[in-house]
Amino acid sequence: MLKLQQVLGVMRKMRSEIELSEPQFGELTDLFGISSLVVDNLGVISSINDSAAEMLGFKVAELLGTMLMRLVVDGGSALSNLLSQSSGVFEPFDLVLHGRSGRKSAVFVVPVPIDHGDGATRSILLVLTEKAKRQASSHTLQHSELELQHFANRLIVAHEVELKRVSSELHDGIGQVLAMIKFMVEDASRRLKQGKVQEGGHILDETVQRLRDAMDDVRRLSSELRPSTLDDLGLIPTIEGHCRKYEDAYDNIKLERHLNVEEAEIPAHLKSEIFRIVQEAMNNAAKHACASTVAVSMLSDHGNLILGIRDNGIGFDAKQFAGGPVNQQGIGLRSMRERAESTGGFFAIKSAPGSGTTVEVRWKLHSVVMRGGTNGMQSN
Ligand SMILES: Nc1ncnc2c1ncn2[C@@H]1O[C@H](COP(=O)(O)OP(=O)(O)OP(=O)(O)O)[C@@H](O)[C@H]1O
Ligand SMILES: [Mg+2]
Repeated sequence: MLKLQQVLGVMRKMRSEIELSEPQFGELTDLFGISSLVVDNLGVISSINDSAAEMLGFKVAELLGTMLMRLVVDGGSALSNLLSQSSGVFEPFDLVLHGRSGRKSAVFVVPVPIDHGDGATRSILLVLTEKAKRQASSHTLQHSELELQHFANRLIVAHEVELKRVSSELHDGIGQVLAMIKFMVEDASRRLKQGKVQEGGHILDETVQRLRDAMDDVRRLSSELRPSTLDDLGLIPTIEGHCRKYEDAYDNIKLERHLNVEEAEIPAHLKSEIFRIVQEAMNNAAKHACASTVAVSMLSDHGNLILGIRDNGIGFDAKQFAGGPVNQQGIGLRSMRERAESTGGFFAIKSAPGSGTTVEVRWKLHSVVMRGGTNGMQSN
């Protein structure tokens, strides 16, 4: 966001670089939504922009030639000081002005001297910011800082969930296999020392098979953390690949896919999150739903990317699981929500006992598409 000081800095620079007439100053500040007016050294308004006139409830022409002091309810002495140039310092000050309807506007005034080239300042540009607006924008700022904090927290929770998953995979999967391998190698070694070569050799052959399993587990875990196909082929082929494996594993489930979105439309930072959500929702359908049909859909609609995973199974009381502590039950639902929300998506789960389950996530796509050959920009 552009700061007022930056705008003023730019204006000062422009003023010194190029000749701007006073109305042009007004237009420039109007462009930034800033109210401004120019007074001469007697305080007569020689130029005022639309925003400032509108704030006071007048038309521009009605205020030209008026003494600014006539509109002042409070803060007149600061304005007199400025006009008399007694201090020679152009400090910001507060002013209360009354508009046409008698409505008072408390404004924060930033004076910018206008040098007419002969070194003598004869006009002053006054940039006015309504105090209510300043407070509102500072509230908005505080609000967005809070939002940012929540966003960061959610991101951390999503990462925590991921770490827990990796940690239990390591412990329960690869850790168990390695413990078994250690036991088998010790057993084989003992038998070899006892001269039972054939028995020892047989156990070592078994160990090799267990080691292969462990290597498969490592490969699976690594691909679960980030499937290499996501980078190599893209999200759609990765989902397609997952769907094929799913159909092989659960031949009692009819799987429908409606992936009506171009790979290029999907923001890169969403791909891994979308894939994880698809995996988890499809696994839940297979594990819990007793469904005969599962449908995965993805489409882009009016600037939204909409992901859906629907099953026609037994359903459940989704409210009961909403926002529950991570450790109390499964982490799948919570993890999906965190992945969606930490990437700016809106997560919804619709389910009720007996009526199937739908997981839906919507992301707003903010991509800016440059139209070929023109400077026009189209924002989705
Ligand atoms: N599609 C579904 N159909 C029916 N019940 C579901 C469905 N999805 C989730 N549930 C219910 O919600 C509970 C919580 O789901 P969640 O994915 O959070 O945990 P989980 O699948 O049990 O374990 P984890 O995902 O951590 O391996 C499930 O145990 C199940 O009772
Ligand atoms: Mg689950």
